Amino acid sequence: MNRLLTPGHVLRHARTACRSGLILALAVLLAALPGPAPARAATGPHGVALAALADLRAAQAELEHALAVTKANAALFKTPAQRAINALLGASDPAYSAAAGNPGDAAGAAGDITRVLALPGDHVWSPALNGALANTQLAAAILGDALKTRDFYKFEMTATQALVDIEIALGRPDRVGGLGGLAGTLATTTLGVPASAATAPACAAPLGSGPVYGTAGDYLLYIAVPTGKAAHFTLPEALASRSVSVTKGWVLFRTAAEPLRAKLCRNARHAAAGPPALYTRAQAQAGRAVFMTNCVTCHGANLQGVAAPSVAGTDFLTTAKRNGWSLGVIRALVVQNMPFNNPGGLQPEQYANVLAFLLAANCYPAGNTPFPLHFQPAMNKLLLGPVPGAHPANARTGVCAVP
Ligand code: HEC
Repeated sequence: MNRLLTPGHVLRHARTACRSGLILALAVLLAALPGPAPARAATGPHGVALAALADLRAAQAELEHALAVTKANAALFKTPAQRAINALLGASDPAYSAAAGNPGDAAGAAGDITRVLALPGDHVWSPALNGALANTQLAAAILGDALKTRDFYKFEMTATQALVDIEIALGRPDRVGGLGGLAGTLATTTLGVPASAATAPACAAPLGSGPVYGTAGDYLLYIAVPTGKAAHFTLPEALASRSVSVTKGWVLFRTAAEPLRAKLCRNARHAAAGPPALYTRAQAQAGRAVFMTNCVTCHGANLQGVAAPSVAGTDFLTTAKRNGWSLGVIRALVVQNMPFNNPGGLQPEQYANVLAFLLAANCYPAGNTPFPLHFQPAMNKLLLGPVPGAHPANARTGVCAVP
């Protein structure tokens, strides 16, 4: 079972534990025992994310022990609190103390989360993991402060805040995005898919002998298990299913990302249809001449920018994607503001041609329909970004040759 406590619960929980003699005695006993065994060696991003989850839970347990001791002996709360810091930050952090022991792994929650964040590419889990990392570090810093006192009540006040930050870093498996924390990313993104598990495109009906993990982009929408196998299937512990349904021989455990299906699958259909052909080859060739006369001084012969930003290739396209630039936005910018030293100074045909040239250099394919001379509303719907399956002439800049 996942612990889904709100900060309010945590506070109450910590206080009640302190008052109850029985729980107190038990907690003192537990505090003296070695913590849970360190997580197994992490495999793949999924394993690393799980290791971070184990570290955060270990820190949480230590801190609950620390908060449940009496004021009689500072050592009783200081050791578990230090062990919580160790599990949060890992052995390479200056605040780590080997003498206290480590209930987590050597990387600590912060190290494990940092490793997942360092994966190449843009991922939907980054905001949640960045938040989890910040709250992990905050909890450790607060605990470091809390350890400066020998007074249990001062310690309790400060350390209770750290417990809340750990809860927020852990997050909730029924939340998508930044509010989900670590548990949310494990439950709703491909970080929740074990390395050995079979995946299937979530936009199509599940196939195969199952269980399969239905994914779209970085999101995990469902786990499908054939009805015949469902009785013997247990959901991975880090996954919380929002709803369960039976369709066409499959039991579908849907995650909290399921409501994103329509949006994700619309994008998937676009990707499957391939990038649109928006201009003719002849236009792009004519556009090269326009560029060489009117734009090259600032944007450079290789389009990577001299005195101005790049206008083609990886840098331009990833910026465009990040900012959600549509073709309409870029067209308007060029037609109204460029050339920068002579805004609006070219003929409509020259603008259409130079835009065709930029599309070609950005690896969009040529087709039979010319780039229009005038604005069309559909241009605002077409979002620019790296073209899947492109073959840039220059692998470093990602700019395509214009034949
Ligand atoms: C005198 C220098 C200059 C010339 C000439 C010029 N540009 Fe620009 N261009 C700029 C500057 C500066 C910016 C950045 C403007 C801004 O950020 O507001 C820019 C931005 C752009 C952008 C958006 C890129 C981005 O990442 O922000 C495009 C596309 C572009 N120019 C295309 C063209 C085209 C096509 C021509 C020729 C018709 C041209 N420019 C001529 C200076 C120039």
